[in-house]
Amino acid sequence: MQRTFHFCLLLAGLLLAATGSLSAQSTTLAATPPMGWNSWNHFAGQVTDADVRAAADAMVSSGMRDAGYVYVNIDDTWEGQRDAKGFIHSNSKFPDMKALGDYIHSRGLKFGIYSSPGPQTCARYEGSYGHEDQDAATYASWGVDYLKYDLCSYGNIMKDESHGDPKIANALMQQAYEKMHRAILKTGRPIVLSMCQYGWDEVWKWGPKVGGNLWRTTDDIKDNYARMSQIGFGQAGLAKYAGPGHWNDPDMLEVGNGHMSRDEYRTHMSLWAILAAPLLAGNDLSQMTQETKDILMNKDVIAIDQDALGKQGDRLSAEGPQEIWTRPLANGAMAVGLFNRGDFPLTITFHFKDAGLPSTIHARDIWAGKDLGPLHDSYTAEVPQHGVVLLRVQP
Ligand code: GAL
Repeated sequence: MQRTFHFCLLLAGLLLAATGSLSAQSTTLAATPPMGWNSWNHFAGQVTDADVRAAADAMVSSGMRDAGYVYVNIDDTWEGQRDAKGFIHSNSKFPDMKALGDYIHSRGLKFGIYSSPGPQTCARYEGSYGHEDQDAATYASWGVDYLKYDLCSYGNIMKDESHGDPKIANALMQQAYEKMHRAILKTGRPIVLSMCQYGWDEVWKWGPKVGGNLWRTTDDIKDNYARMSQIGFGQAGLAKYAGPGHWNDPDMLEVGNGHMSRDEYRTHMSLWAILAAPLLAGNDLSQMTQETKDILMNKDVIAIDQDALGKQGDRLSAEGPQEIWTRPLANGAMAVGLFNRGDFPLTITFHFKDAGLPSTIHARDIWAGKDLGPLHDSYTAEVPQHGVVLLRVQP
């Protein structure tokens, strides 16, 4: 009896120690929202080794790497078969994952990969179910630095094993993510864990506990204003759950994919920066227009996203089609987005006291690229349809 008790104490101690080292690791990993590129939004199931190498090359030559974009992430459809011992191999589109990882690292970039806790991924390739430790070890041996772990067919396992009890289903989902997190820890390699389960069961409340460095808060983004703005503006209220090492993820960027206007992509980028969202470009980096580069690489916008204070912004007010969002920044600064969700240009007035600011402030209009000098009490701007005026304010 006493021996069992001591054994339990020991086990609890070990668990605590493991969780302690785990949270220490999470604060250094993804200390600011991850920045990089992911293959899905543009290449989807067609992505090849050559596309990923071209993305890595373009990330360097375009200046994106130096602007802070470092992760080169392959999404779904790289997976091949398991061998007799159960080890996963890539398919013919990706002849040598270790060599690809080395190539990415040689460019001063980091390597990301994708899997599912289910037996199959969403595109019906091999998932990690029952092979978590083995897969984590394989990824580490390839030099992987980032894993996007997408629920997909694990949803069926949750349904079957919970017999329709949502509490049990949700517990199974948490266990599945924690299992991969622990498998990653065992490899000893720092690998960012990106949880993708579309925001089910208020994931922001338990994502950090199971080892997530970021978690999708919604279903998939699409390259149109309606979907992007529905997701982006729908993030109101989630700010308190984000911080260094654990971020809300409203999905990857669509900037440069061609179906939004310049103002709409500026809204996308501004909102994601205010939301302290991961900035994972989702376009073809080897085919970027100057306009796309100017949006993705605007230094002032990136500085807001990556701000050292690590506090996500939130909605300050909404009046019909106009919304004002603010984000507190290091050294008392503040990002302020004046958004026009309507179909006609609007005049929007920002009253400093509404955001707790003093009556005199200094501000920079980021997209216009100009300092506005000292302003008193309020600032009024013309905001184009679906557009934004993004300010960096210093009291
Ligand atoms: C979805 C996921 C997308 C992409 C896709 C790949 O579930 O939300 O971002 O990863 O699967 O099949």
